[in-house]
Order: sequence, then C-alpha cells, then structure tokens
Amino acid sequence: MNNAPIGIYDSGLGGLSVWREVQRLLPGESLIYLGDGKNCPYGSRPKEEIIRLADQAVARLVEAGCKLVVVACNTATAAAIEWLRAKYAPLPIVGMEPAVKPACLTTQNRVVGVLATERSLDGELFRRTAARYGADIEVITAPGKGFVELVETGREASAEAVACVAEAMREMLARGADRIVLGCTHYPFLLPAMRRAVADRAVEFIDPSPAVARRVVQLLDAGDLRAASDHHAELRFVSFAEEAYRQRIENFARRLLAEQGGEE
Ligand code: DGL
Repeated sequence: MNNAPIGIYDSGLGGLSVWREVQRLLPGESLIYLGDGKNCPYGSRPKEEIIRLADQAVARLVEAGCKLVVVACNTATAAAIEWLRAKYAPLPIVGMEPAVKPACLTTQNRVVGVLATERSLDGELFRRTAARYGADIEVITAPGKGFVELVETGREASAEAVACVAEAMREMLARGADRIVLGCTHYPFLLPAMRRAVADRAVEFIDPSPAVARRVVQLLDAGDLRAASDHHAELRFVSFAEEAYRQRIENFARRLLAEQGGEE
C-alpha cells in the first residue's frame, strides 16, 4: 500500500499548481494527476453537478489504487469535500483551503482581496473562513471571470490576460487591498499577468498550494503511508477528455518540473 500513488484531481490544468508543490516535497512518491478536461470549467456549475463530477474523478483515482487523494480544485472542495470524505472513508482526502487566514493575519491596510470562481465564493467553506478571520478586516471578493479559460487555452501570459486580471482586481485595488488570495488553483499560472497589472503597488499574492502540500506530508506521516526509500516514483497523467488534452497536461507538468530544476 505504501508504494501506491497519491491522486491529485482538478477540473483541468489548474491543479498542477498543487501537483508541483506535492512533487517538490515528496519526490519519492508516485503521483497520478487527473485533469477532468471534459467538463472544465466547473466554476459556475450547480453544486449537485460538481458533486457528481468529483465523485466520478475520485472513483477513477481509487480504481487506480491511490492511497490518498488531493482535491486540487477549490470549486470541487467547496461543493463536495464533505460528501467525498463520507463516501470514500477511510481514504484520506485533502481539499483546498481558501488562504483567507494568512492574508488577514498579514495585511497592513486591513483590506484583503479574494479571487475565486463564482461557485467557490458562494460556498459555505469560504463564508465560514472569511467570517472567522476577517471580522475586523475588509474582505473584498471578485470572481476571476475568464481566468480559467485563459489558462486552459495557453493564453495566461498574453496582453489579453493582463487586461482581464486588471479588470477583476480593479475594485479591490482601488479600496487598498495589499493581500490578494488566489482562491482557484488555475490562478497561480496568471501571476505574471497579475504582477504586471498591479504594477508598482505593494501587493502580495497568496497561493495556498504549499500549505496543501504540507498537509499531504502530515497525513502520510500520520498514517505511516510514505513510499519505501527504494520505490521508483512514477508520474502519470490522466483525463476524461481526449488524448491530446491528456498530453497537454503532461507537457505542462514536465515544463513546470524543468522550471523548478527537477526532472529533465
Ligand atoms: N481550478 C479549479 C478551482 O480551483 C476549478 C476552476 C474551474 O473549473 O472553474 O476552482
């Protein structure tokens, strides 16, 4: 069981921002990344539909023998995490945390911006976290309209991307937000565009994926689930979409590894 893979799932390519952190912390583990692709984007679908899609994805990862599953999608986490944990118990399932807490703890201006999909922003999880940590802090939310599509179509570094992210952040920046939470796993890939859009303003973007990867390490250790030291770690990529999409995920992931000076 210990040499079984860790499954990481998202609606598309976005969860690779989490995959990258898990791979960095756990290079000795086999990983299976499932990017749905066929049903992306999830962001404005009804909750029941997202539960059905997430169920189908986790079932696929369980079938592949995963010892732990990461739902590397804020939208699927907000809609389905409790449902999935109940159905697949005792499988450890890690979800995304909206990084509102670190943003609220470090803001100087006491104004925090949150970018996420429509579905995540009206979810219970987000509302509870914002109420708990943002009591005396102004938390301004905005849906990242078109963000997922920009990343999925490889336009994340385009002038169009800069204009699109600037528009979404306009109000929070005008009101003085100095911390902006990336509440969707696709959004870290838009960071260069976001940095261009905020220009010389002192804004820190908060990506929860390193914390999620640390949670994976904790759970493996708590369950004594780490792979053996002589295990040959394999990186696999699967999708519900056509082979060309699966290949696109794999190429994107290999590029990320090369950028962080890992494999290849
Ligand atoms: N990357 C996902 C998230 O974190 C899903 C985005 C989408 O499919 O709309 O929310």
